[in-house]
Amino acid sequence: MLPNEGGTTHQRPVMSYDIPGGCFFIHGKRGEIMFKKLKEEIDSIMERDPAARSRLEVYLLYSGFKAVRSYRKANWFFRHNMKFIARMISQHSRHKTGIEIHPGATIGKGLFIDHGMGVVIGETAEIGDNCTLYQGVTLGGTGKDQGKRHPTLGNNVLVGSGAKVLGPFKVGNNARIAAGAVVLTEVPENATAVGVPAKVVRLNGEKVGCSSKNLDQIHYIDPVAEHLTDLDSQVRNLRSAIEEVFENGLGI
Ligand SMILES: CC(C)(COP(=O)(O)OP(=O)(O)OC[C@H]1O[C@@H](n2cnc3c(N)ncnc32)[C@H](O)[C@@H]1OP(=O)(O)O)[C@@H](O)C(=O)NCCC(=O)NCCS
Repeated sequence: MLPNEGGTTHQRPVMSYDIPGGCFFIHGKRGEIMFKKLKEEIDSIMERDPAARSRLEVYLLYSGFKAVRSYRKANWFFRHNMKFIARMISQHSRHKTGIEIHPGATIGKGLFIDHGMGVVIGETAEIGDNCTLYQGVTLGGTGKDQGKRHPTLGNNVLVGSGAKVLGPFKVGNNARIAAGAVVLTEVPENATAVGVPAKVVRLNGEKVGCSSKNLDQIHYIDPVAEHLTDLDSQVRNLRSAIEEVFENGLGI
């Protein structure tokens, strides 16, 4: 207890910063909220990672979890115009975890960065709630845009390992970006995008261009079969040309 100006005593003032998941002393209602949030973040990771054995393990050993906590601190300093400190925290975290999250990025609750190494999240990237990113993911810019130049992910988006999502477009809620994909254009809600450059191959659980409503097995174009047919007709043309030469001579 400390004496106050009137000579009476009062509770020692405790620093209580508005830093979600921060490491400062927090008391009362605010402390309760902070620990509730922390528990929710850990539980959301445990739900998505079958390898997670205990909350303690996630708290102490998961680099993705540590990186997101550091981001929350850095983001607080960034929003309060202390950009140098913000950058310092994020670079320190990058050094420790291999995950670089710009302090200016906007990240919702329940972000799970699995394994983590090599993840880069740009300054104007926005991430909704309960998204999952695997190692090597880049949410970056193409180098052509100014201002908002990084992607916006909706809620429950999964981005597979090594995928690059480049540019200021939206990736809809529940979308799934395959490992190794390079996404350069908007991805709709409930879609799966794969490949380089990424194409949507599933929408609302159905194969794109092959939904049960317009499934046409007879007129379906198989590119390999088309190519073989083309080659076959070329061989036929060549054969008839050679036969003609044998029959009529070269005509010289
Ligand atoms: C894309 C993914 C999320 C699956 O999503 P889904 O909606 O269930 O899609 P499906 O598994 O039905 O696959 C859809 C099509 O994409 C193909 N596909 C799946 N993953 C792919 C990939 N990484 N690259 C290229 N094609 C892929 C499938 O073969 C399938 O092709 P088809 O239409 O010819 O049948 C999953 O394959 C993936 O890449 N997860 C990332 C996991 C990861 O990064 N793990 C790292 C752990 S360390």
